[in-house]
Amino acid sequence: MEQYIVKGGNPLVGEVVISGAKNAALGILAAAIMADEPVLVSNLPDVNDVNVLLEAISQTGASVDRRDRHTARINGVGIRSCVVNNSYIKKMRASYYLLGAMLGKYHHAEVALPGGCNIGSRPIDQHLKGFSALGAVGRIQNGMIIVDAKRLAGARIYFDKVSVGATINVMLAACLAEGRTILENVAKEPHVVDVANLLNAMGANIKGAGTDVIRIDGVEKLHGADYSVIPDQIEAGTYMFAAAATKGDITVRNVIPKHLDCLTSKLREIGCEISEFDDAVRVVCKKRLRCTSVNTMPYPGFPTDMQPQMVVILSLAEGTSIVTESIFENRFRYVGELTRMGANVRVEGSNIAIINGIHQLSGAQVSVPDLRAGAALVLAALAADGITVLEDIEYIKRGYEDFVEKLSSLGGVIETVDSEKEISKFRLKAVSM
Ligand code: UD1
Repeated sequence: MEQYIVKGGNPLVGEVVISGAKNAALGILAAAIMADEPVLVSNLPDVNDVNVLLEAISQTGASVDRRDRHTARINGVGIRSCVVNNSYIKKMRASYYLLGAMLGKYHHAEVALPGGCNIGSRPIDQHLKGFSALGAVGRIQNGMIIVDAKRLAGARIYFDKVSVGATINVMLAACLAEGRTILENVAKEPHVVDVANLLNAMGANIKGAGTDVIRIDGVEKLHGADYSVIPDQIEAGTYMFAAAATKGDITVRNVIPKHLDCLTSKLREIGCEISEFDDAVRVVCKKRLRCTSVNTMPYPGFPTDMQPQMVVILSLAEGTSIVTESIFENRFRYVGELTRMGANVRVEGSNIAIINGIHQLSGAQVSVPDLRAGAALVLAALAADGITVLEDIEYIKRGYEDFVEKLSSLGGVIETVDSEKEISKFRLKAVSM
């Protein structure tokens, strides 16, 4: 099994270009099958989750023409099957976007129950509530979610919980429902807006994405479009935090600085220097950072997907910090691994971490429990004294394009290894560094 091996201690310095947003791309690719004409999607990140979804889309009979690493042309005209069930798709949360897309287009869909990162129970009741309000009947049978409708009619739907997935999924189906749908208490994340923008480019009539209320006037059909995915705000945030963790100086390029506001202000608050440009943000960290409190919230609040990276930098900050996880109930599973590297973090209940900052982390053998925690442990390893070996890195590959290459270009000493021999070779090399 592949592992990452990291020798910490180098400040990361330089520029890094951010890829397209994974979470936006997943919604966009599902939306693309709703037309019977080509939809050309560019700025796709080349990450496992996107590649698995493309594979699932081609298994429905839709054509998927991968023009290059970051561009795919999808045409939903050839879809023969509304059943999506392959062994990979079960591992991935966003497979459920195919439910909304196929329900809207064909009034029927069967998709394997989604998996994704194990960060707490991840129900889909709000998705099903939305589909049912539009006139569909949903059931779970043999590990599949099956939704059916004779006709779909617009409705007023109030989500009991702010959910990115439910907002996008119900928006997809409602585009082709008869009449007006009003979605209230929706998620406002940039990727919700991005999916709405693509759908509008395909002829949908969606207003209000990015606010608390989305209004959708159903149309009869959608047509082809060309669309470029927005930059990944979590990938950008991860590199910004890498500068903070390693006392480095990183400029993240190809970003929308507005999407990073909440990360920028937290980094400033704890002592980083930040400069913002039209499509870039530079983070400089020259001194030991200060403690703070952080509470994860739906956008524009502090993203839960940056919570583990935040805990890593606070584990090295001066004083006691408190981080509260309000979105997912099981998102501190990595803390045990971080304490193996010397961090002083205590989890109270299941959702509050109390972090007493220390001066230095030390390398250890750790295992990655989920995607974002994996990225955070890599940041910890880059900041630590000595060598860290990270197992179960498959999670990280789901969401970070060229992670090793990008970190190496910033001066990080990190390699992918596949055997004890390669690990020994790295250790020998590291001694002379
Ligand atoms: C998406 C992101 C994920 C991010 C999360 C929160 C994708 C592919 N994944 O996940 O990276 O961490 O948003 O920003 O875009 N909930 C319910 N019932 C539902 C749906 C959700 O109770 O039907 C709850 C969840 O358990 C969670 C909260 O709502 O507590 C938010 O979840 P949601 O926004 O739906 O997350 P995902 O769309 O799964």
